[in-house]
Amino acid sequence: MELSPFPFQGPLDPRQVRGRDDLLADLARRIAERRVTALVGPRRYGKTTVLRRLASEKGRTVVWVDLYEVTSIADVAARFDQALAVSSGGVFGSLIERIAATLSVNLGVLRIDLRGPARDRPDPALSLSALLEVLVTAASRHQTLLVIDEFSFVSRIPEAAGMLRTALQHHYRELGIVFAGSQPAMMRTLFTSRSEPFYGQADLVEIGPLTQPALTEIIQKGFTSTKRKPGPVARIVYQMTDGHPMRAMQYADRCWTETPQGAVATAETAVEALDQLRRSEAEPLERIFSSFTGSEKALLRSVAVSGSVYGAEAALLGVLGGAAARARRKLVDSGDFIETGTGVKITDPFLADWIRGRFPL
Ligand SMILES: Nc1ncnc2c1ncn2[C@@H]1O[C@H](COP(=O)(O)OP(=O)(O)OP(=O)(O)O)[C@@H](O)[C@H]1O
Ligand SMILES: [Mg+2]
Repeated sequence: MELSPFPFQGPLDPRQVRGRDDLLADLARRIAERRVTALVGPRRYGKTTVLRRLASEKGRTVVWVDLYEVTSIADVAARFDQALAVSSGGVFGSLIERIAATLSVNLGVLRIDLRGPARDRPDPALSLSALLEVLVTAASRHQTLLVIDEFSFVSRIPEAAGMLRTALQHHYRELGIVFAGSQPAMMRTLFTSRSEPFYGQADLVEIGPLTQPALTEIIQKGFTSTKRKPGPVARIVYQMTDGHPMRAMQYADRCWTETPQGAVATAETAVEALDQLRRSEAEPLERIFSSFTGSEKALLRSVAVSGSVYGAEAALLGVLGGAAARARRKLVDSGDFIETGTGVKITDPFLADWIRGRFPL
């Protein structure tokens, strides 16, 4: 069984990362200069992939905390506990263990303790403080990169953001810190709104789509390293996906699967692959579409067809004025729309394609 050179589910293996050299160099410089950084971009744009690559660089010690769908202080504490527990082993691991022992923190068991009988249950806020203390004490003795992925979920628990800020702020010189998250507006708010604990505490760095040269190189290499020729695939995939990283890989993967070893892909290969993808994605895309409100759906249709939220299509669909402006704002905030110089576009090129196929105007 041959492995596809174009994986599209979950973050890539650090060794497979291509086309992000500038961003990686920028992030590495920021970490070296101890500038707290927040990496912002829509879903499936490759944020975790880039961070994993950074984290895998030789000589780095990393504490990686994933706050995906956190719901409470206890949950946040458990994620930090887990992150520190997996750092065990090696010089840093034994440092962490020693410091934890000094502070009477038992690593790796918090989630179990928090589920125990009420009278034995540790206080989640105190537990989180103690874990943060372990982290910053270790970092003051051993250069550490702290990655907090899916940071935007912290907005659900304002107390947790406050505690993180309090614990970390005196250690910005010692720790390299990178936050990452989707929900672009929430990420921006967390760092640019005066009422937020992390107001003004990090530089925001945007992750963009893959450029055409980057995508072309990825597709060329993926085909040739598996004894195939991509023909026009790179150009067609870029045209269809605008460099959306996950969608581009998904489409490239289909084209690749359609091309036997030793063969050259053609325009027909790309057409057939797109047909297959349209069929297999129709149901998930329909579910995504139906999760939007009425005005949002109308705006999505208008943008998919005419590229505009204010044009004749929008008028035809009856979204105008305040309702249109509000829906537009919401879709930009959630990352479902991307603002271009002149207007907005739908972030997911396959959603746009599905809408055009489903609602021809
Ligand atoms: N540098 C890259 N080169 C090629 N494909 C990439 C690259 N980065 C990401 N991708 C594609 O995008 C997919 C999603 O990547 P990743 O999980 O890192 O994104 P993310 O922004 O963290 O997504 P999420 O919002 O779901 O956390 C990968 O499976 C891969 O197909
Ligand atoms: Mg991610």
